Amino acid sequence: MHTLVLASLVVQLMGGVKSVDVRRQVVVVSLDGFPKEQLSKHPLEHLTRVYAHGSQPRRFIVATGMYQESHGVVGNTVFDKALNRTLTIKDSELFTQNPGVMPLWTLNEQLGGSSGCIMWPGCDVTFHGRNVTYWEPYQHNASLSNSVDLAVKWLTHDMVPANLIFLYHDQPDMAGHVYGPDSSYYRDMLKKA
Ligand SMILES: *[C@@H]1O[C@H](CO)[C@@H](O)[C@H](O)[C@H]1NC(C)=O
Ligand SMILES: *[C@@H]1O[C@H](CO)[C@@H](O)[C@H](O)[C@H]1NC(C)=O
Ligand SMILES: *[C@@H]1O[C@H](CO)[C@@H](O)[C@H](O)[C@H]1NC(C)=O
Repeated sequence: MHTLVLASLVVQLMGGVKSVDVRRQVVVVSLDGFPKEQLSKHPLEHLTRVYAHGSQPRRFIVATGMYQESHGVVGNTVFDKALNRTLTIKDSELFTQNPGVMPLWTLNEQLGGSSGCIMWPGCDVTFHGRNVTYWEPYQHNASLSNSVDLAVKWLTHDMVPANLIFLYHDQPDMAGHVYGPDSSYYRDMLKKA
């Protein structure tokens, strides 16, 4: 469902419109560690699979609408030959390998909207001279309900309501790593989400 809403936003943003209708609000949610095989094991309503390989490259596909060979984030950590150092998600250079890349949160800001990101990697990076309006950095084991509350707070802000939110949640990935993807704990984390 989120994917469908996102698709219509992409069409709207890429379709040459000069401004966004800020009354239309979109929330994109990333549940970490939920590969497509898990969808057949644990069928859930309203979820369908999309695409590729590697968590940061994948999240940047959602953010940009480009595959990794185009958006430039080809791995979670990469060695940059020109800079002679290894880049991780803490380095803005990981996300600006392609200097022309335009994440939807930046495009939305350019078109007059207000974007907010909760722990979504790369969203704190300045693209085309712009930052997102709202940003919440990564916290280990953050509660999903706190993140949802924060998203709602931004969406309903009196002065500057957000119209586009990217929310990253580190479950069921953490449960999968600790208890395995066939565990009831993993399933519980999925259900909660
Ligand atoms: C790359 O960095 C290492 C130290 O991290 C240094 O020893 C090496 O000389 C550097 N290479 C170049 C080409 O600058
Ligand atoms: C974006 O944020 C960085 C710090 O994270 C700041 O140095 C920079 O001035 C900001 N740019 C704009 C256009 O607000
Ligand atoms: C994560 O938080 C929950 C409570 O929200 C707690 O029960 C659990 O022990 C925490 N796990 C880790 C690995 O910090």
